Amino acid sequence: MATHASMCYRLFDRHTSSTHFRKLFVQCLNGNIQRPYSGATHKENELELGDSTASSAPNFDSSLKTRSSQERLREESILPFSAFLTDNFGRRHSYLRMSLTEKCNLRCQYCMPEDGVKLTPRSQLLSTSEVLTLARLFVQEGVEKIRLTGGEPLIRPDVLDIIAELRKLEGLKTIAVTTNGMNLARLLPKLKDAGLNLINISLDSLVPAKFEFIVRRKGFHKVIEGIDKAIEMGYNPVKVNCVVMRGLNEDELLDFVALTEKKPLEVRFIEYMPFDGNKWNFKKMVSYQEMLDHIRQQWPNLEKLQTGQTETAKTFKVPGFKGQVGFITSMSDHFCGSCNRLRITADGNLKVCLFGNSEVSLRDVLRSGASNEELLQIIGAAVGRKKKQHAGMFSISQMKNRPMILIGG
Ligand SMILES: C[S@@+](CC[C@H](N)C(=O)[O-])C[C@H]1O[C@@H](n2cnc3c(N)ncnc32)[C@H](O)[C@@H]1O
Ligand code: SF4
Repeated sequence: MATHASMCYRLFDRHTSSTHFRKLFVQCLNGNIQRPYSGATHKENELELGDSTASSAPNFDSSLKTRSSQERLREESILPFSAFLTDNFGRRHSYLRMSLTEKCNLRCQYCMPEDGVKLTPRSQLLSTSEVLTLARLFVQEGVEKIRLTGGEPLIRPDVLDIIAELRKLEGLKTIAVTTNGMNLARLLPKLKDAGLNLINISLDSLVPAKFEFIVRRKGFHKVIEGIDKAIEMGYNPVKVNCVVMRGLNEDELLDFVALTEKKPLEVRFIEYMPFDGNKWNFKKMVSYQEMLDHIRQQWPNLEKLQTGQTETAKTFKVPGFKGQVGFITSMSDHFCGSCNRLRITADGNLKVCLFGNSEVSLRDVLRSGASNEELLQIIGAAVGRKKKQHAGMFSISQMKNRPMILIGG
């Protein structure tokens, strides 16, 4: 089988007549695209308050969806998984996280640098049709799950249209959203109609004043309303993401676990990760083992659950409780070996690792008029450069990367 590099050099030979494409290609191959930032001020980094309720999204009933022969063949391992999305360690990337915006209506301390971020000019962000073109291509290659994230994805005015169009992609089994929950209660009926089938809601404190301190904005009750609405509308489990930080919210672990007694929630405790501008330090990180020990003092019979191979969360349940608890242990016990994720930033860069700073601009390749085959060669080359594992939390904390808000978690 051709290696990623040889596939790329073949492509390069065929395009030596196109100077623009050649330049782009060499940049992509080297993986060192520069990210252009605008000089947008913090004040400009405000809500995109478009009304996203005007979608004509069709109703979707997943039970009516039949498996295509392509899907069946793939599931039965008769068709090999795309070479472009398989890396040198055999990891098959069937999960794509797409950031829909760099903007947010909150300013979480662990995500958004205190001085804000310079926003990319709108013309350099992926348009609706570019988002869908890329999604279509990845799904054709075997991506089965797309998560929309950001910034805050639910402030993007076309989010309902994007979901409704994604729903039409044969082979895409799951459309998920990670949201801060601020607009969720209002939008959820339409999101569900459009085809959203999985929701993660971020909530770091059950104490309103502390919530406001962490996210530097008001809105606790809106988030709770969003969580309740998701439960009421039948999402099960509703995943609640809680970034645990020492001195801030680690004293609330037991209260979060207690929430799972009556509600079908999966509370996911996330180890605090270092990103540009978030002032991470080791002492503020509460490790999985420490959290587990603390929870076990209250519930010694906490049961470990079986999880799928590519699941990132280690999940547990208190016997008799309706919901469950998960831990995302990216720092103390990484899961790089089974990583199946790729990310596309709002400005169209493909990131093969959350903690790696190598990026390739798919936006520029798309806008150069490249064909799907050419795009795939560039995606394949980037996937081929993916490292076996991240560099470890101390090295990551010293490395240049984007702030989380500009990546999309
Ligand atoms: C960047 S946010 C984007 C989606 C949405 N705005 C939200 O907050 O859910 C995605 C997820 O990343 C998590 N996150 C952000 N910064 C983090 C950090 N430094 N360490 C761990 N998780 C982080 C957030 O808690 C959230 O669950
Ligand atoms: S974690 Fe989500 S809600 Fe908080 S600042 Fe980042 S993008 Fe916004």
